Amino acid sequence: MSHNILVTGGSGYVGGSLLARWKEANLPAYNKLFALVRTPKQAESIKQYGAEPLIFDAYNEGEVRAAVVDNNITIVYHLIAPRPHVSQSYFIKAMAEVKKNTGRDVYFLHTSGAKMFSSHAGAPTDKPLLDSDPNLYEIQKGQKPHFPLMQEALDANNFVIEEAEKHGIHSYVFVPCIVYGKGEGFGNQISIQTVAIVRAAEALKRVYRVDAGRPVVCHIRDNTNLYLDLLRKILTGENPGSGKNGYYLAASGSVAWDDLYAAMASALAKRNVIDNDTVVSANEQNLEAMGKGLGCPGALVPVMLGGNCTFTADRGSKELGWKPLYKPEHILEYADAEVDFILRNKNW
Ligand SMILES: NC(=O)c1ccc[n+]([C@@H]2O[C@H](COP(=O)([O-])OP(=O)(O)OC[C@H]3O[C@@H](n4cnc5c(N)ncnc54)[C@H](OP(=O)(O)O)[C@@H]3O)[C@@H](O)[C@H]2O)c1
Repeated sequence: MSHNILVTGGSGYVGGSLLARWKEANLPAYNKLFALVRTPKQAESIKQYGAEPLIFDAYNEGEVRAAVVDNNITIVYHLIAPRPHVSQSYFIKAMAEVKKNTGRDVYFLHTSGAKMFSSHAGAPTDKPLLDSDPNLYEIQKGQKPHFPLMQEALDANNFVIEEAEKHGIHSYVFVPCIVYGKGEGFGNQISIQTVAIVRAAEALKRVYRVDAGRPVVCHIRDNTNLYLDLLRKILTGENPGSGKNGYYLAASGSVAWDDLYAAMASALAKRNVIDNDTVVSANEQNLEAMGKGLGCPGALVPVMLGGNCTFTADRGSKELGWKPLYKPEHILEYADAEVDFILRNKNW
């Protein structure tokens, strides 16, 4: 019996882009692809990718169990909100049952985010932190974020590894970063990351610097390719690094926040969204106003639009042969197109 795969978040930016490239990826043989959706309209749309839609509540234990166990799902790609880890816990429990019933190996992928490996989450930033560092799990366990929100997301990473290990499930912590580029799915095509810069700038008619560090960045195609490369190895039974050795960062490298702010400010000024393309440092008052524009407390704005991250992708290239198509600086060259697309499709 070959694998039954379930992808969640298929109507989202990351998950939709993944499904859009599924058919051309020439994946090794599997039995069925399922996709969790929430509406009949999404269910119709998802069929174009060769996926069978399943409508159930990812936050209801009984419904998750029924979906996973009744369909003998052996691979789950979880691409919805990383915190708290309630949904992930239900999937892991249900997959443990599938493993017991079928005697087969089962695989659970949790989608996290690079912010959980940045200064805002208390990660070390004095030198490169490799996703293949054998001590990464211990490092994550020792991190002390300033914000409870970040602690929850960090706990989710650790929980998935620990809980999956308890049940003999192969787990992966997949880490997208600042993903950019037009989404390729049928649903949301705008990255939740770059849109925040535009929203805050529109609210204040100016781009404000909230951080002087460097974020890690990745084009959506490269992000998708890493998901697919990992799946390819799982399907061929090669058992790529998992559990405490199963962190996979999708990032081509880093750029300076200052350069990203400047590139986006120039694109925004060109379109008269802001009055002046000079980037200035935000004070308390500006942070509050930016928070209003973003719908979050001012204190959280630097978390959304800043942070220093030295997290470095190493495992994907070594274990899976993943090679980014786009250099990190491409996000700066692409900023004009990104801003244009966001403004033409904004729905806030
Ligand atoms: N985009 C980035 O740059 C980035 C960076 C780092 C990490 N990530 C992480 O990657 C994951 C996907 O992000 P994204 O950019 O694709 O976000 P997105 O475009 O907002 O998509 C979110 C997806 O999750 C689904 N979803 C949300 N709540 C759900 C629920 N209760 N039950 C079932 N489905 C639910 C949404 O379905 P509906 O369409 O029905 O709402 C949608 O398919 C998230 O965990 C995010 O934190 C993204």
